[in-house]
Amino acid sequence: MEGTSRIKQLPEEVISRIAAGEVVENPASVLRELLENSIDAGATRIDITVEEGGKKLIKVVDDGHGMNDREIELAVRRFTTSKISSVDDLESIGTLGFRGEALYAIGSVSRLAIRSKRADEDIGYEGYFEEAELVELKPAPIGAGTTVTVRDLFYNFPVRRKFLGSDYAEARRIIEVVTDYALAHPGISFSLRIDGKDIMNLGQASSPIERIEQIYGQDFIEETITLTSKFGEKLTIHGAISRPDRVKKSPLTQLLFVNGRRIRDNRLRAAIYGAYEQEKMHPQYILFIEVDPRFVDFNIHPQKKEVKFHRTLRMYEKLMKSVRETLNRSRTTYSHLGEMPTMRIVETPITHVGETGGRQMEIGEMQPRLQAEERREEIRDESTYIPEKIWQIHDSYIIAQVRSGFIIVDQHAAHERILYEKLRKRKYNTQNFLFPIVLNLTPKEFAVFQDISGILEGYGFRIKILSGRTAVVEGAPDIFKNPTKEIFLEIIDELQDVKSLPDRHLELLKTLACKAAIKAGDKLSGEEMNALLDQLFSCENPFFCPHGRPTVIKISLEELERKFARNL
Ligand SMILES: Nc1ncnc2c1ncn2[C@@H]1O[C@H](COP(=O)(O)OP(=O)(O)OP(=O)(O)O)[C@@H](O)[C@H]1O
Ligand SMILES: [Mg+2]
Repeated sequence: MEGTSRIKQLPEEVISRIAAGEVVENPASVLRELLENSIDAGATRIDITVEEGGKKLIKVVDDGHGMNDREIELAVRRFTTSKISSVDDLESIGTLGFRGEALYAIGSVSRLAIRSKRADEDIGYEGYFEEAELVELKPAPIGAGTTVTVRDLFYNFPVRRKFLGSDYAEARRIIEVVTDYALAHPGISFSLRIDGKDIMNLGQASSPIERIEQIYGQDFIEETITLTSKFGEKLTIHGAISRPDRVKKSPLTQLLFVNGRRIRDNRLRAAIYGAYEQEKMHPQYILFIEVDPRFVDFNIHPQKKEVKFHRTLRMYEKLMKSVRETLNRSRTTYSHLGEMPTMRIVETPITHVGETGGRQMEIGEMQPRLQAEERREEIRDESTYIPEKIWQIHDSYIIAQVRSGFIIVDQHAAHERILYEKLRKRKYNTQNFLFPIVLNLTPKEFAVFQDISGILEGYGFRIKILSGRTAVVEGAPDIFKNPTKEIFLEIIDELQDVKSLPDRHLELLKTLACKAAIKAGDKLSGEEMNALLDQLFSCENPFFCPHGRPTVIKISLEELERKFARNL
C-alpha cells in the first residue's frame, strides 16, 4: 500500500544551510574555525586580515603543513577530515577539529578560496568554492602553508546577514577571538589587521605568562599571581589569578581555557569566586585547564564553546582547591594583606527606618505612585527641607525631614544625576593631574579607547595616545575627585558592548557620572549632605538618575499616620 507522506527528505541545499547556521553564527565564529585549522596544521605564524567587521573579508595566512590539490578539494566536503577516522578516535581527540564540518559550513554561506602548498611538494594550488562546491582549481604560487579567504559572508543568507552587528561590534568580537587563541597558543606568532589598521602583532612567547604580559601588560602581571597545579597525569591547571588584595569592583578579565580553546562555564567561574570568598569583589583570572582528552567532551556544542568534564574528574572541586591553595600561599608573600577589602559594617544613627525586610517592601511599593507628575512637584516644593534634620543611614541613604513628612535620597543615584547634568552642560573645569595616569591596554580595550577618546576630549579630558597600545590621561574634569587607572578601565569595559556612536556618547556620559559619583558606603558630613540635596533639587530632572532609577522617595505624614493606624 502506498500512501502519501507529509514527511519528506529536505533538499541538500536546505540541509547545508541549516548545518552552516549552527557552526557559523558571525564573522568571529568563521575566524575561530579558521584559526583552529591553522593551529591543528602546526602553524608557527598566523596573519589575519579583516575588512568591514569580517562581513566583506576574512583572510587567514598560516605556515602550517598545507594541502595538495586533492586535499584542497576534499577539505570543503562535508564530514571530510584528516583528524579522526574511527569511533574510537572520537573518545580521545587531540586536535581542535574533528567533525570535518567547518570548511563545508563556511563554504555554504560565503565565497571561499583556499590556496595551499605542502612543504613536500613543489607547486601550490588555489581552489575557489561557491555554495561549498569547487568551481575552479588551478596552480598558484605560495610558500608552504595555507591561505584561506572568506568573502561576502552570508551573501546568500540575507536573514543571517541582517542579524549581524555593526562593523564595529563584529570587529570587537574578532579581536576577542584572536586574543583568546593567542593566549591559549603562546608559541604561535599572531598578527591582526582590521580595515588597514594594525590591531595586534605578537611575536612568539616562551610561556603562557609571557603571552599574557604581551597582551595585558606589566600591570596585569603585577596584580596577579601564578597558579600551577598538577593532578596526576590527567589534569593540569595553570595561569594567572588576581592577588587577593587586588580583586576588582567589576569583573574585568576572566578567561577560562580547556585544551587550547576558550570556554564558558558558570559553575567553574563560581568555583573560582568561592575560593576567593570576597563578597561583591571580582577576581581577574586567565586559567588554562589541560585535561586528558578522554575526560572531556567538546562534542556537546556546535561551536565547541561548552564542554562536559567526566564526572570522576571532579573539576569544580579541583579548580576551587587549586585557586584556594595558591591564594593561601600568596598570603605569606603579601604581608600587607591586612588592607584586604572587606565589607564595612557601620552603626547607623536611626536604624529603625528601612531596617526590616517587610518595611523595605512597603517603601518599594510606593515608588510607582511616586512617578506621578504632581507627586514630583510636591517633593520639589518640599525641597525646602530642614537642614538640621538630616541623617545618613547605612552610609548610603540620606533621610531628611520635609514639611509634610520625610524624604529618602539614594546618595549615589542623586550624585549621578547632579554630575550627569553638569557634564551635559559642561559646568566644571579641567584639572591637570599631578601624576598622569598611564593606561597599558589590551588590543580590545585599546580599540574601544581610541573610539571614545575624541568624546572624552570634548568633555575636557586631556589624553595622549602613544604607540604600543599605551594611552596617557593627563587631566580630567574636576568633578573627578579621585581619578584612578581602574576607573578608566571600568569605563572602557562598560562601553565595549555599546555599538552606535550616539548611544556610545550618551552611555559614556552616564558612565562618567556614575564613576565620579559618591558611592553607597561613602560617609558624608552634614554639610556634604546639605550640598548634595541643594544641588539635586536644582537639577532639571532631579527624580531619576541617568539610568532611570529613582533618586528620591517621599513618605508623607499622612502615610505614616495611616500605617500606624493613627487616623482610624
Ligand atoms: N589551514 C589548514 N592547513 C592544513 N590543512 C587544513 C587547513 N584547514 C583545513 N585543513 C584540512 O581540511 C580538513 C577539513 O577542515 P574542517 O575545518 O572542515 O574540519 P576539521 O578541522 O577536520 O573538523 P571541524 O569541523 O571540527 O573543524 C581538515 O581536517 C584538514 O585536514
Ligand atoms: Mg576545523
